[in-house]
Amino acid sequence: MGDVVEDRTLILIKPDAVRKGLTGRIISRFEDRGFKIIAVRMLTMSSDLADSHYIEHIDKGFYPEMKKFIMSGPLVAMVIDGENAVRIVRAMVGATDSVEAAPGTIRGDFSLSKRENAVHASDCSKSAEREIELFFPEI
Ligand code: CDP
Ligand code: MG
Repeated sequence: MGDVVEDRTLILIKPDAVRKGLTGRIISRFEDRGFKIIAVRMLTMSSDLADSHYIEHIDKGFYPEMKKFIMSGPLVAMVIDGENAVRIVRAMVGATDSVEAAPGTIRGDFSLSKRENAVHASDCSKSAEREIELFFPEI
């Protein structure tokens, strides 16, 4: 198990994937790769949590529709731990726009949309630290 902060990342299984019953299969991909799930929680995002989590995007044109989507139902938040988790998990997730996401990636296998794209994963260690604190202040 990784024991430094660089080795932890935050994943959200977004409401589209939860609605489609993909939660177990998505979690399995991370376990199959060798990562440990060290925290997990199902919740529906509040307006404040959405704005905090996506602070870099709140002024963008797509944000209002994206916020509606991300708050539209329960999601599964989890912390994944293992060497180079941030970089490896981003590669497993694939490109933001599912049209660009390679087959074999989570988005490339489980989504068709640029917005409803199945998962979130922290984009760097600094984001991971900030995002983990938002969803799991106790760890
Ligand atoms: O999630 P990722 O880091 O790959 O992409 P992002 O550019 O940080 O965008 C965050 C999220 O906003 C995406 O995952 C999409 O769900 C959503 N988005 C959208 O709805 N419309 C866009 N034009 C771009 C992103
Ligand atoms: Mg991002």
